[in-house]
Amino acid sequence: MSKSRNKTVAIERARPIARQQAHEIQAFNHVVRLPIALSENAARLGVANLNQVLADTITLRDLYKKHHWQVAGPTFYSLHLLFDKHYEEQNDLVDGLAERVQMLGGISLAMAADVAETTIVPRPPKGREEVPVQISRLLHAHEVVLEEARTMARQAAEAGDDGTNDLLVSDVIRTNEKQVWFLSEHVVDVPLVRAK
Ligand SMILES: [Fe+2]
Repeated sequence: MSKSRNKTVAIERARPIARQQAHEIQAFNHVVRLPIALSENAARLGVANLNQVLADTITLRDLYKKHHWQVAGPTFYSLHLLFDKHYEEQNDLVDGLAERVQMLGGISLAMAADVAETTIVPRPPKGREEVPVQISRLLHAHEVVLEEARTMARQAAEAGDDGTNDLLVSDVIRTNEKQVWFLSEHVVDVPLVRAK
């Protein structure tokens, strides 16, 4: 091969191959079997349930960021920080739930449009709302997640899917219950300066 031909081949090899397309390697509703000693039915149930709680957790996480940005009033600073802390904790749950779906052989929901189609957490307005309304929305979203997570945890235990049960109980339920406590105390109507 001539020198100039060698040079052309080398340059061609260094060129990034962008804009590639191909068929999906796994359709969204397909669950592949992984060697984790779990029945196909248990894995399917886990994938379906986890994707629902994933969609609702992504929505709750994003609701925290919206309120972190838009909060107003005398409690601005503490709530601005608290909302971001809870956002980060919810973000960890999102990753744990999505990866559990993949571990069970399913496909985790990921993109905003797909999450919006799936979540049962009510959509907030684009505009800004008062602190008690922000907190009420968050509390409702937490309750949605807690209610479904408890049911799903029981179903996972009955199906023999201890890993999913543990994720839902130890991470999702405990984190959400603690965040509900922190939020709820902000809407207890106690005097700020003079006792009643
Ligand atoms: Fe920020």
